[in-house]
Amino acid sequence: MSTGYHPELIQRAFIDFVGTRVHPFWSLMSPKLRLLAKHRLGDNLVALQFETNYAFRQQSGNNWDGGQHLSLIVPIDGVRHQRQYSIVGLPQQPLWWHSKKAHTLTIAIKAQGLISQHLTQQAALGDVFECSTPSGSFILPSALDDSAPMLCIASGSGITPMLGLITQALKNGRTVTLLHYNRTPILTSFWSVLASTYPAFRYHLIITKDSSTYLASSRHLNTHSLLSLGLPLEQTQVYACGAQELLSSLYQAASEIDLDDVSLRDNITVERFGSSDFGYSKEQSAADIVERTISLRARQRQFTSDTTLLAGAEKAGIRLPYGCRQGICHLCRCQKISGQVKNIQTGSISSDGFESIQTCITVPLTDVVLDV
Ligand code: FES
Repeated sequence: MSTGYHPELIQRAFIDFVGTRVHPFWSLMSPKLRLLAKHRLGDNLVALQFETNYAFRQQSGNNWDGGQHLSLIVPIDGVRHQRQYSIVGLPQQPLWWHSKKAHTLTIAIKAQGLISQHLTQQAALGDVFECSTPSGSFILPSALDDSAPMLCIASGSGITPMLGLITQALKNGRTVTLLHYNRTPILTSFWSVLASTYPAFRYHLIITKDSSTYLASSRHLNTHSLLSLGLPLEQTQVYACGAQELLSSLYQAASEIDLDDVSLRDNITVERFGSSDFGYSKEQSAADIVERTISLRARQRQFTSDTTLLAGAEKAGIRLPYGCRQGICHLCRCQKISGQVKNIQTGSISSDGFESIQTCITVPLTDVVLDV
């Protein structure tokens, strides 16, 4: 009688072990990338094209969504460093390469920081890197009938996930507007090809030193520049990736724009490179949750230690400034005069004294006095 157990005569792990010693790129189990080409895009941004190995193709289905990223492991001086990079474009999408290789993937990197400088300057063609399979939630919603207009906003190298995301949205029949804030013009031919292929695509490249490119006479994102686009903002889905200042400006503008019944803030998706939604209360058992006294606006309120200072204040009927409620925009920042708080994203615990904190991602560990 068959037991249903069929042992492998030769274990895959053993084949993998031997194969990797014959050639570091060969693996049945570990996704890897081999560097094929480098292409300078301008403004310190370099595109790297890789060949994907068998394990990568098997585990990813040789596919990814526009906007996703992967982790790359980069050994430097004997130390294995890990960093996440957005994948540029979609599978099989023509970019800057005329390659005969069928299975390729491209990332674009700003040449700053140890790992990125190593990849753009020291890494040689043919070098092999371990990697993850593509992941990330900076993607289009899965509902096929979702036809809301999209507004994509990026600054600097935050443009890299947008190439795939925008192409995929246009292929799905959506209307897309792109704002890219940058010091110099880059990727202009890519966007102009896309605009001539898809009439539903509009783009504005705002170049820092060229006032003729500004929106609503401003080189920065603000309420006027958003309104000047003439988009139906109630229905528009906003995707943003870029510097802290850009994200703060976006949430600030979103909070100033008055829409009927909806908040533009709720329509914003931000690329956060693998950080997951947080739920601090889930980490604590009921026995761990204790009451704290928070002093703010010259009043004292009772908070529980599983509630962020922002949520606790709102529950107590006190409105504090906020934007994203996710630790991204810093609009909720205020001064803590005394007391210890914990950042629920990083786990770091503050000192007992005067300090600037983000109320949307901090919970009280002791009684706290805020300067608001
Ligand atoms: S509300 Fe955006 S960081 Fe707190």
